[in-house]
Amino acid sequence: MRILVIGGGGREHAFVTAIHNSSKTTKIYCIPGNPGIAALAECISLDSSNPAILCQFAMEHAIDLTVVGPEVCLAAGVVDAFQKQGLKIFGPTRAAAELESSKTYAKELMKKYAIPTANYEVFTDAAAAKKYIECQGAPIVIKADGLAAGKGVVVAQTIVEACQAVDSMLADAAFGDAGSRVVIEECLVGQEASVLAFTDGYTIQPMVASQDHKRVFDGDEGPNTGGMGTYAPAPVVTTERMQWITQHVLQPTIDAMRAEGRLYSGCLYAGLMITEQGPKVIEFNARFGDPETQVVLPLLKTDFITVMEHCIEGTLQELDVEWNNGACVCVVLASGGYPGSYEQGLEITGLDDLLPETYVFHAGTAKQGDKLVTAGGRVLGVTSQAANLKQAVNKVYQEVPKIHFKDCHYRTDIAAKAFQK
Ligand code: AMP
Ligand code: GLY
Repeated sequence: MRILVIGGGGREHAFVTAIHNSSKTTKIYCIPGNPGIAALAECISLDSSNPAILCQFAMEHAIDLTVVGPEVCLAAGVVDAFQKQGLKIFGPTRAAAELESSKTYAKELMKKYAIPTANYEVFTDAAAAKKYIECQGAPIVIKADGLAAGKGVVVAQTIVEACQAVDSMLADAAFGDAGSRVVIEECLVGQEASVLAFTDGYTIQPMVASQDHKRVFDGDEGPNTGGMGTYAPAPVVTTERMQWITQHVLQPTIDAMRAEGRLYSGCLYAGLMITEQGPKVIEFNARFGDPETQVVLPLLKTDFITVMEHCIEGTLQELDVEWNNGACVCVVLASGGYPGSYEQGLEITGLDDLLPETYVFHAGTAKQGDKLVTAGGRVLGVTSQAANLKQAVNKVYQEVPKIHFKDCHYRTDIAAKAFQK
Protein backbone atom coordinates (compact mmCIF):
# COMPACT_ATOMS: atom_id res chain seq x y z
CA MET A 1 0.00 0.00 0.00
CA ARG A 2 1.02 3.57 -0.66
CA ILE A 3 0.68 5.60 2.52
CA LEU A 4 0.66 9.35 3.10
CA VAL A 5 1.44 10.83 6.51
CA ILE A 6 0.57 14.47 7.15
CA GLY A 7 2.73 16.37 9.63
CA GLY A 8 6.39 16.70 10.46
CA GLY A 9 7.07 16.16 14.16
CA GLY A 10 8.01 13.36 16.53
CA ARG A 11 4.48 11.95 16.46
CA GLU A 12 4.58 11.64 12.68
CA HIS A 13 8.06 10.08 12.87
CA ALA A 14 6.52 7.44 15.16
CA PHE A 15 3.66 6.90 12.66
CA VAL A 16 6.13 6.50 9.81
CA THR A 17 8.19 4.03 11.85
CA ALA A 18 5.13 1.87 12.58
CA ILE A 19 3.97 2.10 8.97
CA HIS A 20 7.44 1.19 7.72
CA ASN A 21 7.29 -1.95 9.88
CA SER A 22 4.04 -3.09 8.25
CA SER A 23 4.25 -5.79 5.59
CA LYS A 24 1.40 -3.97 3.78
CA THR A 25 3.54 -0.91 3.05
CA THR A 26 5.16 -0.42 -0.33
CA LYS A 27 5.79 3.33 -0.25
CA ILE A 28 5.50 6.14 2.33
CA TYR A 29 5.16 9.84 1.62
CA CYS A 30 5.20 12.48 4.32
CA ILE A 31 4.08 16.12 4.00
CA PRO A 32 6.17 17.97 5.07
CA GLY A 33 8.15 15.39 7.10
CA ASN A 34 11.55 16.08 8.67
CA PRO A 35 15.15 14.79 8.37
CA GLY A 36 14.46 11.80 10.64
CA ILE A 37 11.37 10.81 8.68
CA ALA A 38 13.32 11.22 5.42
CA ALA A 39 15.24 8.01 6.24
CA LEU A 40 11.99 6.01 5.90
CA ALA A 41 9.72 8.07 3.68
CA GLU A 42 9.79 10.52 0.80
CA CYS A 43 9.26 13.95 2.30
CA ILE A 44 7.33 16.46 0.22
CA SER A 45 7.38 20.15 0.93
CA LEU A 46 3.76 21.25 0.48
CA ASP A 47 1.34 23.23 2.66
CA SER A 48 0.11 20.54 5.05
CA SER A 49 -2.85 22.63 6.22
CA ASN A 50 -4.39 23.08 2.74
CA PRO A 51 -6.97 20.31 2.13
CA ALA A 52 -7.18 20.92 -1.66
CA ILE A 53 -3.42 20.63 -2.13
CA LEU A 54 -3.26 17.45 -0.03
CA CYS A 55 -6.18 15.88 -1.90
CA GLN A 56 -4.59 16.59 -5.23
CA PHE A 57 -1.31 15.07 -4.08
CA ALA A 58 -3.08 11.92 -2.86
CA MET A 59 -4.90 11.48 -6.16
CA GLU A 60 -1.84 12.11 -8.31
CA HIS A 61 0.27 9.68 -6.30
CA ALA A 62 -2.37 6.92 -6.00
CA ILE A 63 -2.31 7.02 -2.19
CA ASP A 64 -4.21 4.11 -0.60
CA LEU A 65 -4.39 5.48 2.93
CA THR A 66 -3.61 8.81 4.61
CA VAL A 67 -3.07 9.50 8.30
CA VAL A 68 -3.22 13.00 9.78
CA GLY A 69 -1.06 14.15 12.69
CA PRO A 70 -1.72 17.81 13.59
CA GLU A 71 -5.03 19.18 14.84
CA VAL A 72 -4.81 22.23 12.56
CA CYS A 73 -5.14 19.94 9.51
CA LEU A 74 -8.24 18.29 10.99
CA ALA A 75 -9.73 21.67 11.87
CA ALA A 76 -9.02 22.81 8.31
CA GLY A 77 -11.22 19.98 7.01
CA VAL A 78 -8.62 17.67 5.46
CA VAL A 79 -10.64 14.56 6.29
CA ASP A 80 -13.84 16.03 4.80
CA ALA A 81 -12.00 16.89 1.57
CA PHE A 82 -10.53 13.37 1.25
CA GLN A 83 -13.84 11.66 2.02
CA LYS A 84 -15.56 13.75 -0.67
CA GLN A 85 -13.10 12.36 -3.22
CA GLY A 86 -13.52 8.81 -1.93
CA LEU A 87 -9.96 8.75 -0.57
CA LYS A 88 -9.27 6.69 2.56
CA ILE A 89 -8.10 8.82 5.47
CA PHE A 90 -7.68 8.14 9.19
CA GLY A 91 -8.98 10.93 11.41
CA PRO A 92 -12.19 12.77 12.32
CA THR A 93 -14.03 15.25 10.11
CA ARG A 94 -13.87 18.95 10.86
CA ALA A 95 -17.21 18.83 12.70
CA ALA A 96 -16.09 15.87 14.83
CA ALA A 97 -12.70 17.46 15.50
CA GLU A 98 -14.50 20.33 17.24
CA LEU A 99 -14.19 18.12 20.27
CA GLU A 100 -10.65 19.50 20.37
CA SER A 101 -10.85 22.74 18.40
CA SER A 102 -13.57 24.21 20.63
CA LYS A 103 -13.24 23.72 24.37
CA THR A 104 -16.76 25.13 24.78
CA TYR A 105 -18.17 22.49 22.43
CA ALA A 106 -16.36 19.74 24.34
CA LYS A 107 -17.52 21.02 27.74
CA GLU A 108 -21.14 21.38 26.60
CA LEU A 109 -21.13 17.87 25.15
CA MET A 110 -19.75 16.45 28.39
CA LYS A 111 -22.35 18.31 30.44
CA LYS A 112 -25.21 17.14 28.20
CA TYR A 113 -24.12 13.49 28.27
CA ALA A 114 -22.90 13.38 31.90
CA ILE A 115 -19.29 12.62 31.03
CA PRO A 116 -17.15 13.37 34.11
CA THR A 117 -15.23 16.65 33.85
CA ALA A 118 -14.42 19.76 35.89
CA ASN A 119 -17.32 22.17 36.59
CA TYR A 120 -17.11 25.26 34.40
CA GLU A 121 -18.65 28.41 32.96
CA VAL A 122 -18.01 30.12 29.59
CA PHE A 123 -17.45 33.88 29.28
CA THR A 124 -16.95 36.46 26.55
CA ASP A 125 -17.14 39.41 28.95
CA ALA A 126 -14.13 40.12 31.16
CA ALA A 127 -16.09 41.77 33.98
CA ALA A 128 -18.50 38.85 34.26
CA ALA A 129 -15.58 36.41 34.17
CA LYS A 130 -13.81 38.20 37.02
CA LYS A 131 -16.96 38.29 39.11
CA TYR A 132 -17.27 34.53 38.69
CA ILE A 133 -13.60 34.05 39.66
CA GLU A 134 -14.11 36.09 42.83
CA CYS A 135 -17.09 33.92 43.79
CA GLN A 136 -15.28 30.64 43.08
CA GLY A 137 -11.89 31.55 44.59
CA ALA A 138 -8.50 30.11 43.66
CA PRO A 139 -6.89 27.88 42.49
CA ILE A 140 -8.94 28.08 39.31
CA VAL A 141 -8.26 27.30 35.65
CA ILE A 142 -8.66 29.73 32.71
CA LYS A 143 -8.68 28.40 29.14
CA ALA A 144 -8.83 30.08 25.74
CA ASP A 145 -11.70 28.49 23.81
CA GLY A 146 -9.91 27.68 20.55
CA LEU A 147 -6.66 26.06 19.48
CA ALA A 148 -3.70 27.80 21.11
CA ALA A 149 -0.93 25.23 20.58
CA GLY A 150 -1.20 23.96 24.15
CA LYS A 151 -0.47 27.38 25.59
CA GLY A 152 -3.99 28.70 26.15
CA VAL A 153 -4.37 27.29 29.68
CA VAL A 154 -3.54 29.08 32.94
CA VAL A 155 -3.81 27.18 36.21
CA ALA A 156 -4.08 30.25 38.45
CA GLN A 157 -3.06 29.91 42.08
CA THR A 158 -4.55 33.28 43.09
CA ILE A 159 -7.57 35.38 42.11
CA VAL A 160 -5.22 38.13 40.88
CA GLU A 161 -3.42 35.71 38.54
CA ALA A 162 -6.75 34.38 37.27
CA CYS A 163 -8.04 37.90 36.52
CA GLN A 164 -4.79 38.72 34.70
CA ALA A 165 -5.26 35.63 32.53
CA VAL A 166 -8.81 36.72 31.68
CA ASP A 167 -7.54 40.19 30.75
CA SER A 168 -4.78 38.84 28.55
CA MET A 169 -7.18 36.48 26.70
CA LEU A 170 -10.32 38.62 26.47
CA ALA A 171 -9.09 42.20 26.66
CA ASP A 172 -5.61 41.97 25.09
CA ALA A 173 -6.53 39.08 22.72
CA ALA A 174 -3.26 37.26 23.47
CA PHE A 175 -4.54 34.23 21.53
CA GLY A 176 -6.45 36.13 18.83
CA ASP A 177 -9.82 34.59 18.02
CA ALA A 178 -8.94 31.45 19.96
CA GLY A 179 -9.25 33.52 23.15
CA SER A 180 -12.34 35.55 22.34
CA ARG A 181 -14.23 33.15 24.61
CA VAL A 182 -12.79 31.70 27.78
CA VAL A 183 -13.72 28.62 29.75
CA ILE A 184 -13.23 29.00 33.50
CA GLU A 185 -13.18 25.75 35.37
CA GLU A 186 -12.68 24.03 38.67
CA CYS A 187 -9.06 23.08 39.40
CA LEU A 188 -8.76 19.30 39.54
CA VAL A 189 -6.20 17.58 41.75
CA GLY A 190 -4.56 14.25 41.05
CA GLN A 191 -2.27 12.46 38.62
CA GLU A 192 -2.76 13.09 34.92
CA ALA A 193 -2.98 10.33 32.34
CA SER A 194 -3.47 10.25 28.59
CA VAL A 195 -5.77 7.58 27.27
CA LEU A 196 -5.82 7.36 23.48
CA ALA A 197 -8.27 5.09 21.75
CA PHE A 198 -8.88 3.80 18.25
CA THR A 199 -12.47 4.23 17.15
CA ASP A 200 -14.61 3.78 14.06
CA GLY A 201 -17.38 5.88 15.57
CA TYR A 202 -19.11 2.90 17.18
CA THR A 203 -16.49 0.72 18.83
CA ILE A 204 -13.72 1.85 21.16
CA GLN A 205 -10.37 0.07 21.44
CA PRO A 206 -8.25 1.88 24.04
CA MET A 207 -4.50 2.01 23.59
CA VAL A 208 -2.00 1.49 26.39
CA ALA A 209 -2.34 4.41 28.83
CA SER A 210 0.51 6.89 28.99
CA GLN A 211 1.58 9.93 30.98
CA ASP A 212 2.94 13.18 29.58
CA HIS A 213 5.15 15.68 31.45
CA LYS A 214 3.93 19.12 30.44
CA ARG A 215 6.04 21.35 32.68
CA VAL A 216 9.48 22.24 31.41
CA PHE A 217 11.54 21.40 34.53
CA ASP A 218 11.98 18.41 36.84
CA GLY A 219 9.43 18.06 39.62
CA ASP A 220 6.73 19.66 37.40
CA GLU A 221 8.22 23.13 37.82
CA GLY A 222 8.21 25.97 35.31
CA PRO A 223 5.84 26.80 32.47
CA ASN A 224 3.77 24.36 30.40
CA THR A 225 5.25 23.02 27.17
CA GLY A 226 4.00 20.82 24.36
CA GLY A 227 5.30 17.86 26.42
CA MET A 228 8.80 17.09 27.74
CA GLY A 229 8.52 13.33 27.86
CA THR A 230 6.19 10.38 28.23
CA TYR A 231 6.04 6.81 29.35
CA ALA A 232 3.68 3.89 28.82
CA PRO A 233 2.02 1.97 30.29
CA ALA A 234 1.09 4.40 33.09
CA PRO A 235 0.39 2.30 36.21
CA VAL A 236 -2.04 4.95 37.55
CA VAL A 237 -4.47 3.59 34.94
CA THR A 238 -5.00 0.11 36.31
CA THR A 239 -6.94 -2.49 34.32
CA GLU A 240 -10.11 -1.75 36.34
CA ARG A 241 -9.67 1.99 35.86
CA MET A 242 -9.22 1.53 32.14
CA GLN A 243 -12.49 -0.40 32.03
CA TRP A 244 -14.19 2.39 33.96
CA ILE A 245 -12.73 5.03 31.62
CA THR A 246 -13.87 3.10 28.56
CA GLN A 247 -17.36 2.66 29.98
CA HIS A 248 -17.86 6.14 31.44
CA VAL A 249 -15.74 8.38 29.22
CA LEU A 250 -14.66 6.96 25.87
CA GLN A 251 -17.72 4.98 24.80
CA PRO A 252 -20.24 7.64 25.96
CA THR A 253 -18.23 10.30 24.09
CA ILE A 254 -18.31 8.57 20.71
CA ASP A 255 -21.95 7.58 21.29
CA ALA A 256 -22.69 11.25 22.04
CA MET A 257 -20.88 12.40 18.92
CA ARG A 258 -22.91 9.99 16.82
CA ALA A 259 -26.12 11.14 18.47
CA GLU A 260 -25.15 14.72 17.63
CA GLY A 261 -24.70 13.75 13.97
CA ARG A 262 -20.92 14.05 14.11
CA LEU A 263 -19.67 10.48 13.77
CA TYR A 264 -16.19 10.45 15.30
CA SER A 265 -13.64 8.11 13.79
CA GLY A 266 -9.87 8.06 14.18
CA CYS A 267 -7.95 8.47 17.41
CA LEU A 268 -9.80 9.89 20.40
CA TYR A 269 -7.44 11.27 23.02
CA ALA A 270 -8.76 11.81 26.53
CA GLY A 271 -6.53 13.86 28.82
CA LEU A 272 -7.64 12.77 32.28
CA MET A 273 -7.09 13.77 35.88
CA ILE A 274 -7.30 10.78 38.20
CA THR A 275 -9.00 12.54 41.13
CA GLU A 276 -10.14 11.13 44.45
CA GLN A 277 -13.66 11.01 42.98
CA GLY A 278 -12.40 9.07 39.97
CA PRO A 279 -11.09 9.99 36.51
CA LYS A 280 -12.31 13.30 35.04
CA VAL A 281 -11.71 14.70 31.57
CA ILE A 282 -9.33 17.67 31.38
CA GLU A 283 -9.52 17.86 27.61
CA PHE A 284 -10.18 15.87 24.48
CA ASN A 285 -7.86 15.89 21.52
CA ALA A 286 -9.02 14.74 18.11
CA ARG A 287 -5.67 13.20 17.20
CA PHE A 288 -2.76 11.23 18.55
CA GLY A 289 -0.76 12.91 21.33
CA ASP A 290 2.75 14.20 20.92
CA PRO A 291 4.90 12.80 22.60
CA GLU A 292 2.41 10.09 23.73
CA THR A 293 2.48 8.43 20.30
CA GLN A 294 6.23 7.93 20.60
CA VAL A 295 5.70 5.55 23.57
CA VAL A 296 2.35 4.02 22.61
CA LEU A 297 2.83 2.98 18.98
CA PRO A 298 6.02 0.94 19.57
CA LEU A 299 3.91 -1.18 21.96
CA LEU A 300 1.21 -1.88 19.36
CA LYS A 301 1.49 -5.52 18.29
CA THR A 302 -1.30 -5.55 15.72
CA ASP A 303 -0.35 -4.03 12.37
CA PHE A 304 -0.96 -0.26 12.54
CA ILE A 305 -2.30 -0.05 8.99
CA THR A 306 -4.76 -2.87 9.65
CA VAL A 307 -6.11 -1.03 12.71
CA MET A 308 -6.53 2.20 10.76
CA GLU A 309 -8.30 0.38 7.91
CA HIS A 310 -10.80 -1.11 10.36
CA CYS A 311 -11.44 2.35 11.85
CA ILE A 312 -12.07 3.84 8.41
CA GLU A 313 -14.28 0.97 7.28
CA GLY A 314 -16.37 0.83 10.47
CA THR A 315 -15.31 -2.73 11.31
CA LEU A 316 -13.23 -2.17 14.43
CA GLN A 317 -15.48 -4.52 16.39
CA GLU A 318 -14.16 -7.42 14.30
CA LEU A 319 -10.54 -6.72 15.17
CA ASP A 320 -8.70 -7.81 18.30
CA VAL A 321 -6.11 -5.04 18.80
CA GLU A 322 -3.13 -6.55 20.61
CA TRP A 323 -0.32 -4.93 22.59
CA ASN A 324 3.20 -6.00 23.40
CA ASN A 325 4.25 -6.52 26.99
CA GLY A 326 6.97 -4.21 28.19
CA ALA A 327 7.24 -0.45 28.41
CA CYS A 328 8.51 2.64 26.60
CA VAL A 329 9.98 5.90 27.87
CA CYS A 330 10.49 9.02 25.72
CA VAL A 331 12.70 11.91 26.85
CA VAL A 332 12.39 15.14 24.86
CA LEU A 333 15.59 17.05 24.20
CA ALA A 334 14.64 20.71 23.97
CA SER A 335 16.35 23.91 22.85
CA GLY A 336 17.72 26.19 25.60
CA GLY A 337 15.01 28.75 26.39
CA TYR A 338 12.06 26.61 25.26
CA PRO A 339 9.06 27.11 25.79
CA GLY A 340 10.20 30.73 25.47
CA SER A 341 12.42 31.94 22.64
CA TYR A 342 15.46 29.90 21.61
CA GLU A 343 18.29 29.76 19.12
CA GLN A 344 18.03 27.48 16.06
CA GLY A 345 20.47 26.01 13.57
CA LEU A 346 22.72 24.45 16.25
CA GLU A 347 24.55 21.30 15.21
CA ILE A 348 23.32 18.02 16.70
CA THR A 349 25.93 15.29 17.27
CA GLY A 350 26.15 11.88 18.91
CA LEU A 351 23.26 10.13 17.14
CA ASP A 352 25.62 7.51 15.71
CA ASP A 353 26.73 6.42 19.18
CA LEU A 354 23.32 5.16 20.34
CA LEU A 355 22.25 1.58 20.91
CA PRO A 356 20.53 0.32 17.76
CA GLU A 357 17.23 -0.34 19.54
CA THR A 358 16.89 3.31 20.59
CA TYR A 359 14.26 5.25 18.66
CA VAL A 360 15.26 8.85 18.01
CA PHE A 361 12.09 10.59 16.87
CA HIS A 362 12.86 13.91 15.22
CA ALA A 363 10.62 16.82 16.23
CA GLY A 364 12.45 20.05 15.42
CA THR A 365 15.45 19.26 13.23
CA ALA A 366 16.70 20.39 9.82
CA LYS A 367 19.55 19.61 7.46
CA GLN A 368 22.20 22.24 6.79
CA GLY A 369 24.37 20.68 4.13
CA ASP A 370 25.49 17.39 5.69
CA LYS A 371 24.89 18.63 9.21
CA LEU A 372 21.81 17.91 11.31
CA VAL A 373 20.78 21.07 13.17
CA THR A 374 18.09 22.19 15.61
CA ALA A 375 14.99 23.77 14.09
CA GLY A 376 12.42 23.92 16.88
CA GLY A 377 11.76 24.04 20.62
CA ARG A 378 11.37 20.32 21.01
CA VAL A 379 14.23 18.86 18.98
CA LEU A 380 14.33 15.08 19.53
CA GLY A 381 12.29 12.47 21.40
CA VAL A 382 14.69 9.76 22.51
CA THR A 383 12.72 6.60 23.21
CA SER A 384 13.71 3.27 24.73
CA GLN A 385 11.64 0.13 24.91
CA ALA A 386 12.33 -2.61 27.45
CA ALA A 387 10.74 -5.51 29.30
CA ASN A 388 9.55 -3.17 32.05
CA LEU A 389 9.38 0.51 32.90
CA LYS A 390 12.40 0.53 35.22
CA GLN A 391 14.61 -0.94 32.50
CA ALA A 392 13.24 1.44 29.89
CA VAL A 393 14.03 4.42 32.15
CA ASN A 394 17.57 3.20 32.78
CA LYS A 395 18.12 2.58 29.10
CA VAL A 396 16.85 5.93 27.90
CA TYR A 397 18.92 7.89 30.43
CA GLN A 398 22.04 5.98 29.33
CA GLU A 399 21.42 7.10 25.76
CA VAL A 400 20.33 10.73 26.18
CA PRO A 401 23.70 12.12 27.43
CA LYS A 402 25.38 10.83 24.26
CA ILE A 403 23.49 13.41 22.19
CA HIS A 404 24.78 16.97 22.06
CA PHE A 405 23.72 20.37 20.86
CA LYS A 406 24.41 23.76 22.44
CA ASP A 407 22.11 24.55 25.41
CA CYS A 408 20.24 21.24 25.10
CA HIS A 409 17.98 20.60 28.07
CA TYR A 410 15.74 17.74 29.15
CA ARG A 411 13.95 16.46 32.21
CA THR A 412 15.74 13.82 34.27
CA ASP A 413 12.60 12.57 36.01
CA ILE A 414 10.46 11.17 33.20
CA ALA A 415 8.39 8.26 34.58
CA ALA A 416 9.45 8.97 38.19
CA LYS A 417 5.77 9.27 39.19
CA ALA A 418 5.21 5.66 38.17
CA PHE A 419 7.46 4.57 41.04
CA GLN A 420 5.99 6.76 43.79
CA LYS A 421 4.10 4.82 46.48
P1 AMP B 1 -4.90 21.39 28.35
O1 AMP B 1 -4.30 22.27 27.28
O2 AMP B 1 -6.38 21.52 28.49
O3 AMP B 1 -4.38 20.00 28.29
O4 AMP B 1 -4.27 21.92 29.72
C1 AMP B 1 -2.88 21.95 29.90
C2 AMP B 1 -2.57 21.51 31.30
O5 AMP B 1 -3.20 22.37 32.26
C3 AMP B 1 -3.10 20.13 31.63
O6 AMP B 1 -2.24 19.12 31.21
C4 AMP B 1 -3.21 20.19 33.13
O7 AMP B 1 -1.94 19.99 33.73
C5 AMP B 1 -3.61 21.62 33.38
N1 AMP B 1 -5.07 21.71 33.55
C6 AMP B 1 -5.99 21.92 32.59
N2 AMP B 1 -7.23 21.93 33.10
C7 AMP B 1 -7.10 21.70 34.42
C8 AMP B 1 -8.03 21.59 35.52
N3 AMP B 1 -9.33 21.74 35.36
N4 AMP B 1 -7.52 21.36 36.74
C9 AMP B 1 -6.20 21.23 36.94
N5 AMP B 1 -5.28 21.32 35.95
C10 AMP B 1 -5.71 21.56 34.72
N1 GLY C 1 1.01 15.69 24.69
C1 GLY C 1 -0.09 16.56 24.65
C2 GLY C 1 -0.76 16.70 23.37
O1 GLY C 1 -0.46 16.03 22.40
O2 GLY C 1 -1.69 17.50 23.31
